[in-house]
Amino acid sequence: MVQVTASRARSLRGMTHRFETLAIHAGQEPEPVTGAVVPPIFATSTYRQDAVGAPRDGYEYSRTANPTRRALEECLAALESGRRGLAFASGMAAEDTLLRTVCGPGDHVVIPDDAYGGTYRLFARVAERWGLGWTAAPLHDLDAVAAALTPRTKLLWIETPTNPLLRIADIAALASLAHRAGARAVVDNTFASPYLQRPLELGADVVGGALVVADPALGDELAYHQNAMGGVAGPFDAWLTLRGLKTLAVRMERHCDNAERVAAFLAARPELSEVFYPGLPDHPGHALAARQMRRFGGMVSFRVRGGEAAAVEVCDRTRLFVLGESLGGVESLIEHPARMTHASASGSPLEVPADLVRLSIGIEAAEDLIADLQQALRRPSR
Ligand SMILES: Cc1ncc(COP(=O)(O)O)c(C=O)c1O
Repeated sequence: MVQVTASRARSLRGMTHRFETLAIHAGQEPEPVTGAVVPPIFATSTYRQDAVGAPRDGYEYSRTANPTRRALEECLAALESGRRGLAFASGMAAEDTLLRTVCGPGDHVVIPDDAYGGTYRLFARVAERWGLGWTAAPLHDLDAVAAALTPRTKLLWIETPTNPLLRIADIAALASLAHRAGARAVVDNTFASPYLQRPLELGADVVGGALVVADPALGDELAYHQNAMGGVAGPFDAWLTLRGLKTLAVRMERHCDNAERVAAFLAARPELSEVFYPGLPDHPGHALAARQMRRFGGMVSFRVRGGEAAAVEVCDRTRLFVLGESLGGVESLIEHPARMTHASASGSPLEVPADLVRLSIGIEAAEDLIADLQQALRRPSR
C-alpha cells in the first residue's frame, strides 16, 4: 500500500496547494516590473543599491543572492516541506558545503555501506584528510547503525533508495536514532525526488542534492557557508532546473510506470541472478518503501549470471538505452557501476558487485525499452 500520496499541503497566496501546483507556482510569482509569468534569468553579478548599505530586498551580489536562484530555492523548499532551500552548482557542492558547515576536525559521520561513489569519495578521500572520521554501516540494520554512532558523530548520512543497489532505509527510525545520539540526519533524496519521498516530513534534518532544511537557524548557517565557499547554482542552471520542476510530477509517474514494467520483465529472465527494484514484492525493502515513498522510482539494477564480462557486454549491446552515467533524464541510460559511477569505491566497504548493471528508466515507450533489453540479453556471449 502506498501511503505517501501527496505532500503536506502548503500555503501559497492564502490557499493550500498540492505538489503539482507548488512545482509550477512556489517561489515563482510573476516578475514585478513586467509581469513575466516565467521567472527571468537574471544574468547579473551585481545590483545597484539605493544608498550605501541599503541593497534592494537583500540583493547585493549574485553569489550571495540572485532572483532566479531564489525562485528555485523557494520552490525546492516548498516541494520538500522545508523552511529554507539552497541551490548549488552540483549535488557534490551541496554535500561539501553541508559537511564543512556542520562538521570540523575530530568529528565523525556515519555513511551507508551502499551509497553514491562520489559521496564515498568526498568522505574517504577528501574530508578524511582534514580530520573527519567516518564509519560505513548497513542502514537497514538499526543495531549496526546504533553501534556506529559515537559521541563525536555529527551526521548520519542516509541514502534511500541507494545507488546502485536500491536498498531501502527507514528514514523515521534512523532520524530518531541520530537525534538520540546528538547527530543530525541527512537524506540524499536523489533517487526518489521530493515527488516520491519527503524526508523532512519523516523527521530528517537536511535533504541533500540541493540543501533543504527544516530549521531556519541551520538554513542561515548553511547560507553563510554557501556564500563563503561559493559553489552556487548559476542563474541559467537555476532557470533550467525550475523549468524541469514544473513537469516533475508527470515525468515521475511515467518513469515509475516504465520502471515497474522493465523490472517485471527482468525478474523473469534466466540470464540474471538478481533484480533490484523496490517495487518488486520480493525486494527486502518493499513494505518499507511502500510506506515512505509515493511510488518506487525509475531506477532498476540487476546482476548478470555470466559475471563481469557478461554485464559489460549487456551495457555495450543496448541500442536504445544510452551507455552513460547519471540518472533521472527522459532518455533511458545503462551503465556498469563497478567500472563507471562507483569505480572510486573499489576495494572499500562500498564496493559494488562487478556483475551489476544499473538502468535509469526514461519516459520512452515501455515496449521499446523492453525490446531493447531483450535483444541485449539474448545475444550469445562472444
Ligand atoms: C545518489 C547521488 N547523490 C549525489 C550525487 C551527486 O550529484 P552531482 O552529480 O550533481 O554532484 C549523485 C550523482 O549521480 C547521486 O547519484
